[in-house]
Amino acid sequence: MEDTLVSDLCTPVFIVDLQKVKQNAQAMLERFQQMGVQLRPHMKTHKTVECGEIMTGGSRRCIAVSTLAEAAFYAEHGFDDILYAYPIPLDKVERCAQLSEELVLFHVLIDSRVALQQLRTRPLKGGKVWRVWLKLDCDNGRAGVPHSEPAALLLAQDIFQSEGVELTGIYVHCGNTYSCSGEEHIKAIAQKTTTFILHFMEKMKAAGMDGPKSSIGSTPSCSHPVQDMAQLSEVHPGNYIFYDAQQMKIGSCKLEQVAVRVLTRVIGHYPSRNQLLVDCGWAGLSHDGGGCLPTGYAIIEGHPNLRLLSMTQEHGRVEPISGNLDYKKFPIGAMLCLIPYHACATAMMHAIFFVHSEGKVVDKWTPTRGW
Ligand SMILES: Cc1ncc(COP(=O)(O)O)c(C=O)c1O
Repeated sequence: MEDTLVSDLCTPVFIVDLQKVKQNAQAMLERFQQMGVQLRPHMKTHKTVECGEIMTGGSRRCIAVSTLAEAAFYAEHGFDDILYAYPIPLDKVERCAQLSEELVLFHVLIDSRVALQQLRTRPLKGGKVWRVWLKLDCDNGRAGVPHSEPAALLLAQDIFQSEGVELTGIYVHCGNTYSCSGEEHIKAIAQKTTTFILHFMEKMKAAGMDGPKSSIGSTPSCSHPVQDMAQLSEVHPGNYIFYDAQQMKIGSCKLEQVAVRVLTRVIGHYPSRNQLLVDCGWAGLSHDGGGCLPTGYAIIEGHPNLRLLSMTQEHGRVEPISGNLDYKKFPIGAMLCLIPYHACATAMMHAIFFVHSEGKVVDKWTPTRGW
């Protein structure tokens, strides 16, 4: 690895700029420290020990994960206070019970009475209780009990009153910030979500449920938080550690903050159709973001007139947005640098991340995989 430059690496390759990762992590840590809110960074974007260490400021405490494989991986590597922030699948209750018994703090998330019932049928050993977060849906339309439905408060009450179970908190993921355009729009959704959850916390208090925490978060809302978010207990963003073309488009970040790229090389010239081929297909980039950027599936850095038009598994078709390709500028073997649309999806396509400082490879990170 010594003296290896990213430009020497075989392509396609996923590269991570260490300085930018550290800056993104620090900015988020400081932002919420100043607001008096606990940051619980989500690991789903990278799934590596090294990045988890950076995001937690070295503490290896207080993280969120989206798969049980991640939970087990981080537990094995000395992390604790892990929230499995996914509606607990019933086939995974036993393994979650074991993690709850092994770790100081392991949290699960539910949005149904069926899941609560399953937890109750598996009491934890060693005087432990299930730490449960109730997932609410605040207009995102994915998992969670709709916040305004009476069923939400009733389920909170059931969890609160269950033996062997603690209602640790209320979890809302404002994924609807992904349809935002610009800072003001992001802030409007962040405000709405915050207002909904704080109102729900008030309703819980009035019903005798004082003590549970509140957590919202997504990279857009946590990149541009509103003042009322200072009343939350926690936030749980994840993608900000890398950022990507999608976050630039939404208005969460600037190009200078995007820490990851996929490097690819030109492998063919096809003047009859005004195209060239690169060695990165969807297996190196993912298909996320098709139709979302004027430049196709990615931004081709330094070449605003190029578009990554389509991909098969290992091939990418590139064409100019207007005019004819000047093939002399892109000889076979030339390297192009792709800014991924969705860094989480792109990172998932790679078994190794090459970490660099100013173009010099300084480390290799191996993410965990599986469910
Ligand atoms: C449940 C949940 N929590 C937190 C996050 C982190 O949000 P983001 O990726 O916007 O940082 C995600 C991302 O998809 C999520 O699904």
